[in-house]
Amino acid sequence: MCGIVGYIGKDKCIPIIINGLEALEYRGYDSAGLAYVDKGKIILKKEVGRIENLKNNLDMNVESYLGIGHTRWATHGKPCQENSHPHRVGNITLVHNGIIENYDELKKELIDYDLKSETDTEVVAAYIDKLYKETKDMLKVLQLLKKHLIGSYALGIIVDGINKLYAIRKDSPLIIGVSEAGNFIASDVPAILRYTNMYYLLLNDEYAVLDEDDVVIYDRDGSISTKNIEIFEGSYEAAMKNGFDHFMLKEIYEQPKVINDTINEYIKDKKSFFAKMKGLEKYKAIDIVGCGSAYHVGLVGKSLITEYGKVLVNVDIASEYRYTNHIYSKKHLIILISQSGETADTLAVLRKAKKENIDTLAIVNVVGSSIAREADKVLYIKAGPEIAVATTKAYTCQLMLLSLIAAYLGVKNGNLDDSIFEEYHNIVRLLDDSLKDTKDIQKVAKMIWQNKDVFYLGRKVDYALAMEASLKLKEVSYLHSEAYAAGELKHGTISLIEKNTPVISIVTDDSIRSKTLSNIKEVCARGALSIIITNQDISDNEMYTELIRLPKVSKLVESVLVIVKCQLLAYYVAKLNGCDIDKPRNLAKSVTVE
Ligand code: AGP
Ligand code: GLU
Repeated sequence: MCGIVGYIGKDKCIPIIINGLEALEYRGYDSAGLAYVDKGKIILKKEVGRIENLKNNLDMNVESYLGIGHTRWATHGKPCQENSHPHRVGNITLVHNGIIENYDELKKELIDYDLKSETDTEVVAAYIDKLYKETKDMLKVLQLLKKHLIGSYALGIIVDGINKLYAIRKDSPLIIGVSEAGNFIASDVPAILRYTNMYYLLLNDEYAVLDEDDVVIYDRDGSISTKNIEIFEGSYEAAMKNGFDHFMLKEIYEQPKVINDTINEYIKDKKSFFAKMKGLEKYKAIDIVGCGSAYHVGLVGKSLITEYGKVLVNVDIASEYRYTNHIYSKKHLIILISQSGETADTLAVLRKAKKENIDTLAIVNVVGSSIAREADKVLYIKAGPEIAVATTKAYTCQLMLLSLIAAYLGVKNGNLDDSIFEEYHNIVRLLDDSLKDTKDIQKVAKMIWQNKDVFYLGRKVDYALAMEASLKLKEVSYLHSEAYAAGELKHGTISLIEKNTPVISIVTDDSIRSKTLSNIKEVCARGALSIIITNQDISDNEMYTELIRLPKVSKLVESVLVIVKCQLLAYYVAKLNGCDIDKPRNLAKSVTVE
């Protein structure tokens, strides 16, 4: 949701800020703007729509060395030029990511200000201007600000006549990049990778003052921080496309590597694996909570942890879970799944759980993200930066980590012996092989891309996989799709099945093979275009037009082979539909607002 970039240094700031905003486009936005200091005067430029519109209205060669930029995802006030950032009030110009919950109350103290926009952000700019006029000291202003703002914010601030860049954050992400040529603020690492891979993670209530050759970070109590610099291991190119047409395809093909990285992070050294997982065996009940694909992977996790871990598992959507009363057992664990670690509803569940003293474990991709930092324990996946809005590699890495938790519990309770861990290395090889030939999937994509409805069917874990497969197809190709428990279709929805309606059935669970095959026959009898994704031997070719065959492997790892086929199908259908695959309409990569 939204992107912030700021720079102060020896190089011209406009190209740096624009490059940074473009590297953050994946976060989703509806307008873009920047402010830069030109001969002591702060100039604002902002446009609705894509960054391209802003660039068309900019001279990239202006001799300016201090500036801030923003891509906005509107929460207060429609997407329009007036509501776009940066906002300038009095001597203050700023950009903001987040939601100020008490902006109406703050407005009551700002009756002398003539605010032009509908945004909460402009109220913050006015409030800072008021504090600045009272104190003439920006450090004092930032200390006071934290006491008065309620809500989430990452702020980049420049002040008339002061050659410094100020930054402060609470709940919305912000990093401080450092280099010989100058210093940066940014919402995420890809924005600065073209210039530096060294950065500080700004934590909640910390703030920073940057000038061209120095950065001072202040702890929440106002003391000077001594935090270490982080080094991002990937290169700028690593965060870009590497020759693929889209980030989504690049990230689908990264899966063998990042799954291997994630697996090795845990089971390369068995002793350290058991140390990292130690304590999970004490829980009698586990709630798994997430949004979207994070919720879907939780459903697969439930199937595996229940079967092998013999633990009671409940899975829920974060936006439902947070408003529901729960009965907790004495030994209860809440597992929060989030690629970004910033999803507002998932973060809210975490905070509610902590207030209720329920143990929390986060499974997160982004190091140092809010959910990662605030959970009692965090297990990172190693998916690397996931740029495409539609998650692929993070989902499969989360799936593997949940599977490892199930395997750990299975070994601890004697259901499994530790030879099982070999299966995880095996799946990486099988996945690599399956990605070498996608002709079968591309053929199916050509069969279905012009349909208006596509149905996915499955039972038990195959139904959970069908839900993720359906979401992938919807969100990148704009085809309407639904996932159904195979046995449920005849209770109503089968009325929608007509000649050539695509029905994609996932059949990997031996225990319900025959039941699902019966459901497939029912839809075939009504003329459906039947596609089956399976590791079973299915001889009756009356039941399908296309069969996508998978190798038979352990249940603990086979889901990855299924879902990658479905990711590729979604990708190729979207490509045939000419969709904006990496940045689907209306979607954001990280939903940091409720
Ligand atoms: C995934 O393809 C979707 N874009 C979306 O459902 C996503 O999984 C959801 O917003 C949760 O995001 P998170 O994992 O960063 O919390
Ligand atoms: N709440 C602010 C607005 O609506 C910032 C939204 C964002 O994070 O982009 O302008």
